[in-house]
Amino acid sequence: MNTAKTAGFLVAGLALVGLGIALGRGLRPDVPEPPVPGVIAPPPPDVATLPLSDPRGSLVFYPFLNQTGITDDAVAAAELVLRGLRDDDPAALEEALASYQLLNEQENFGGEYPTLEWFCEYALADESQRRTMLENDDGRRFVELFGREDWALLAEYLTGKYNLGRMDRKWLFYLDEIVRFNSPYRHRWERTDRILDLLSIEPGMEVVDVGAGGGFYSFRFAELVGRDGRAYAVEMNEQHLEYLRRVAADEGLDSLVVVPTDGSFPDLPEGSVDRVFLCATYQTLYLSIREDERTRWLEDVKRALAPDGLLVVAENEPLLEPGLVPFGGISVSLPLLEAQLVAYGFERVTAEYVVPQRYVLVLRKAGGAEG
Ligand SMILES: C[S@@+](CC[C@H](N)C(=O)[O-])C[C@H]1O[C@@H](n2cnc3c(N)ncnc32)[C@H](O)[C@@H]1O
Repeated sequence: MNTAKTAGFLVAGLALVGLGIALGRGLRPDVPEPPVPGVIAPPPPDVATLPLSDPRGSLVFYPFLNQTGITDDAVAAAELVLRGLRDDDPAALEEALASYQLLNEQENFGGEYPTLEWFCEYALADESQRRTMLENDDGRRFVELFGREDWALLAEYLTGKYNLGRMDRKWLFYLDEIVRFNSPYRHRWERTDRILDLLSIEPGMEVVDVGAGGGFYSFRFAELVGRDGRAYAVEMNEQHLEYLRRVAADEGLDSLVVVPTDGSFPDLPEGSVDRVFLCATYQTLYLSIREDERTRWLEDVKRALAPDGLLVVAENEPLLEPGLVPFGGISVSLPLLEAQLVAYGFERVTAEYVVPQRYVLVLRKAGGAEG
């Protein structure tokens, strides 16, 4: 083929590619920008036009619970911790610590590894370092719960979690949530302080923490609202409820009110609530309850909220830049979740990706006063 012909084919080829891109742009609705940490999220696109073919992934992620993070390296690290505990072997704990430091960078974002890293550091620390580590309330509560009888409960958890022995699934689910969500190192992956800033809680407020879990946020809310306010920890899991009641009693958290529920929103006086908060819990209402139940739940929230009250939802974002480790649990993209809440009569006050994997959406009743 002569040079002129080759050049002709090249020009024609490039023109066709250009036309394809132009047509593609014309036909394809705008792809939402990927989240950037600490950045106000753009207004939601029309959800109906979100491209299902978005190469960055799904808008919803629903893993098989408690099975994320059980990789060969994580099983090996758990076996090292178990050996370290059984044989009083600091070398095994040193090796486990090095593994968790690597695992934390590589996999299972929001999983159990940060807590296990903290535990290895604690086990290897001297007395004075331990005293400093126990100034962290989450660290102290972790040691009080798991440290009894030479860390028998931690050994039980690791054995069940990593399939090294049999364990009741409900009990494992409870322990797994405590290990993951009441982690002394949770602030490292989630930026807890920024989430608290966005909640803007003041003394005397009435705050409802729906799906309180092991109380990571409820305990903080109880301190923030002080003696004149109230923090309601709403839960449907019996083991969580028992733990919440025990900590509230042991630590004299008088403003913490533990509220059992069958899944419905608690019956609180109309217009009395300043903040309704859900962290990694609205996903259940979005994905796995009947529409009539969700409608009733959201109507009850609107009724209970004060005119300037806020609904604050922290959730996990599955749409991530390639290379970022996704949150190891259920995730629903911000535009989907926001569109649903707008359809139920809320409007956005602000939305922020505190980290790419987790966003906070702050809403008020549509037409209400600014919070
Ligand atoms: C993933 S955990 C999150 C715990 C806690 N919010 C945190 O961030 O540490 C979700 C919790 O929500 C609870 N839950 C789910 N649906 C609920 C509902 N409709 N009402 C109250 N609790 C609910 C579950 O029992 C579980 O403990």
